[in-house]
Formats: sequence, C-alpha cells, structure tokens
Amino acid sequence: IANGDALKEKTLAMIKPDGVEGDYIDVIKKTILASGFNITQEIQLQLNENTVKSFYAEHASKSFFSDLVQYMTSGPVLIMVLEKANAIADWRDLIGPTDSNKAKATHPKSVRALCGLDLQRNCVHGSDSPQSAVREISFFFEKSSSGFVSTHDEL
Ligand code: TYD
Ligand code: MG
Repeated sequence: IANGDALKEKTLAMIKPDGVEGDYIDVIKKTILASGFNITQEIQLQLNENTVKSFYAEHASKSFFSDLVQYMTSGPVLIMVLEKANAIADWRDLIGPTDSNKAKATHPKSVRALCGLDLQRNCVHGSDSPQSAVREISFFFEKSSSGFVSTHDEL
C-alpha cells in the first residue's frame, strides 16, 4: 500500500545565478538528497527578463524589483522539483532566511548561510506555500504524455 506516496509533497527549488556561478550545484544537490528529498525534475536555464518578471510578479511594485530582475538574468539557474513529505516547509527551513547575512548569523548551517552572498544574491529559491509551489512548478514544467517537460527552455 502506497501510504508514503500519498503524503508526499512537491516544491520548486532554484539555484540562482550566484550559486551556479560559485560552483555550488553539487554541494546543494548533496544537501538536498541527504535531507531526504527526491529530485524529480531538473533543468538548467538562462532566464530572460519577461520570465523573471512573471515568476516574481508578486514583487513587481517593490523597490528592489529591477535589481532582482537584472540579477536573476545575469547567468544560468538550475531549477528543480523536490519531493518528500512536508517538502515545502522543510526546503524553506533548509535554505534559511532571505538575507544570507542574517542566515550566517542565525542559521549558520542553512544553504543561504553556506552559499549565499547577501540579501539579493542568496543562492537559492524555495516556494513559500502550497499555492506557490503549484504555481511555480507549473510555471516551469508542464505535464506531457512523456512526463513533465520544461515550458521555459531558453538555453
Ligand atoms: P522574497 O520572496 O521576500 O524572499 P524569499 O526568496 O526568501 O521568498 O524575495 C524574493 C527575492 O527578492 C529574494 O530571494 C531576494 C530578493 N530581495 C531583494 O533583493 N531585496 C529585498 O529587500 C528582499 C525582501 C528580497
Ligand atoms: Mg518568496
């Protein structure tokens, strides 16, 4: 009986341009797997401006938005779907606070403490709620007859 499967949850994780550039892909993936997540989808993409503006639409009115768009288009990202029970909250816990400097002070073992640089260049993304996870996974991947495929294959 597939009890375990019914409890599984999916979340969207992204290694941002500073993480890819800083060569953190392997160490972050090892952390993900050692923490009990399965990586069910992954794709490396160079995001364009429109894609980032749409992905981060909730922040469109913020003062940091244009800098965020510039940063997120500055190099390739690695996008992954992570799966396990309680994946959404557990991945947020594992990455730590938004500001990598705060993460270094208060959550020194978090991914953003270990790999991030500052408030903007914080190395990784994680969906913040079940609604966000559904939106973000379908933003980058759609179901096809052969499984999930990327809808934003810009590389
Ligand atoms: P947010 O959704 O608040 O953080 P999180 O990634 O932890 O969910 O913000 C989205 C991204 O915007 C964040 O990862 C980094 C960037 N950002 C800034 O550059 N400056 C800021 O003041 C904030 C709050 C976020
Ligand atoms: Mg967020």
